[in-house]
Amino acid sequence: MTRRIIIDTDPGQDDAIAILLALASPDEIEVLGITAVAGNVPLELTAKNARIICELAGRDDIKVYAGCDKPLGRALVTAEHVHGQTGLNGPRLPDPKMPLQDQHGVDYIIDTLRDAEPGTITLCPLGPLTNIAAAFTRAPDIVEKVREIVLMGGAYFEVGNITPTAEFNIYVDPQAADIVFRAGAPIVVMPLDVTHKALVTPERNAAFRSLGTKVGTAVANMTDFFERFDKEKYGSEGAPLHDPCVTAYLIRPELFSGRHINVEIETSSELTMGMTVADWWGVTDRPRNAMFMGRIDAQGYFDLLTERLARL
Ligand code: BDR
Ligand code: CA
Repeated sequence: MTRRIIIDTDPGQDDAIAILLALASPDEIEVLGITAVAGNVPLELTAKNARIICELAGRDDIKVYAGCDKPLGRALVTAEHVHGQTGLNGPRLPDPKMPLQDQHGVDYIIDTLRDAEPGTITLCPLGPLTNIAAAFTRAPDIVEKVREIVLMGGAYFEVGNITPTAEFNIYVDPQAADIVFRAGAPIVVMPLDVTHKALVTPERNAAFRSLGTKVGTAVANMTDFFERFDKEKYGSEGAPLHDPCVTAYLIRPELFSGRHINVEIETSSELTMGMTVADWWGVTDRPRNAMFMGRIDAQGYFDLLTERLARL
């Protein structure tokens, strides 16, 4: 059955590739709308970048909404050091012609879920969870409309990438993450434990480039860009390609495996702020609230990406 999804995002090159994968897979995924959130770069840029990517995919019919411009209770932390000043450094892509929708992203999420049957809409957060938490707080009745929240964020074995103990998306808005993880909707988490196994090796990047299409070249230039930073940081054979794990899961869930466990968010200690405290070993009796992934068939993931991006 085709999944009806809302992508909530802060593009970001890896967000962009996650969006492209979804738009390239209409048999499995129907993108109802895209909501932008402040994260990798400020909201004005993420809302613009989301539209640049829709146009790159030839989909200027997709509705893009701007959501929250800052976390619920903290100052915004951005990541230009990874993604560049625009958030989408690397390829040269034209400014979007398609309009940004007038409606606020949070209102759009609330209205769309209210209009839906229970358990039918999948939310795909690829950035800080501010928009989703704001929607759930204002309209708790919409939680039952969610089929699943499939998100990129957090870490257990890999611990952190923005602080020693926190992953960027959760760290930027821990309060929002706490609300979402407690909401009661089914959650699938793609943490760093998975994404740090999904490395863009030179061969995988060459596969994107050899598509010889506008999209293939743009994707190869995006991964080339953030790779410079990540390789220096991790000293690995390539940079992790985080966010497309979310949309790949919607197409081929068997590429991923993990455990259904309790995950809680650190919201008070400055030292470990935004840590995803994951009960991987089942040492508490706290209720299981998330399918926390740990493994990925990385080559299967990159083969899927290359095959699907070729369709655009
Ligand atoms: C996450 O943070 C962002 O920089 C990426 O887009 C991804 O969503 C990885 O920690
Ligand atoms: Ca992101």
